[in-house]
Amino acid sequence: MGHSHITIHNKAFRPYLSAAQLEEAVTALAARLSADYAGRLPLFVVVLTGGFMFAADLLKRFTGPCEIVFIRVASYEGTGSTGEVQEILGLREDVQNRHLIVVEDIVDTGTTMQHLLPTLLAKGPASVEIATLFFKPASLKHELRLRYVALEIPNDFVVGYGLDYDGLGRNLPDVYVAV
Ligand code: IMP
Repeated sequence: MGHSHITIHNKAFRPYLSAAQLEEAVTALAARLSADYAGRLPLFVVVLTGGFMFAADLLKRFTGPCEIVFIRVASYEGTGSTGEVQEILGLREDVQNRHLIVVEDIVDTGTTMQHLLPTLLAKGPASVEIATLFFKPASLKHELRLRYVALEIPNDFVVGYGLDYDGLGRNLPDVYVAV
């Protein structure tokens, strides 16, 4: 991983988590999920766009049979949560009696999940859990049960490995933090 700062939209970021550190955390989470869901056929519900890289690495390491769908829920602009969450798009599967695992890039205020969970629960699944790459505990504004967290991070803005700053940075294999 590079040791120098990068600039995105005139904002400076410094290296924060290397691809190797991310891989270690994602591998550990995949092992937990593989053990917990052994003998079941979970349906992973991946929240786009930020969750795509985490989901790919996580699900490559999930050992059991599973199904995977991609949805969209939220709009997010700049470095602050807008608090505006759109409806779920793309969930055509029948989720009744299914074990759902929502795959998210980051739980920040928790507003996105706060809106998504009741909508999913109303469809009658057998269970719903959240698997998130990042969790910012200091930022959480809602009661959320987060069973599967790869990494807890401070309340700073991060970019890379699927996460963007105004549309840029999602392709970076390492994660950077705003300075
Ligand atoms: P929440 O609804 O406040 O929990 O925010 C969830 C969404 O905000 C995530 O899915 C991200 O798209 C975005 N977000 C929150 N914090 C960050 C960050 O540090 N970097 C990039 N996106 C973020």
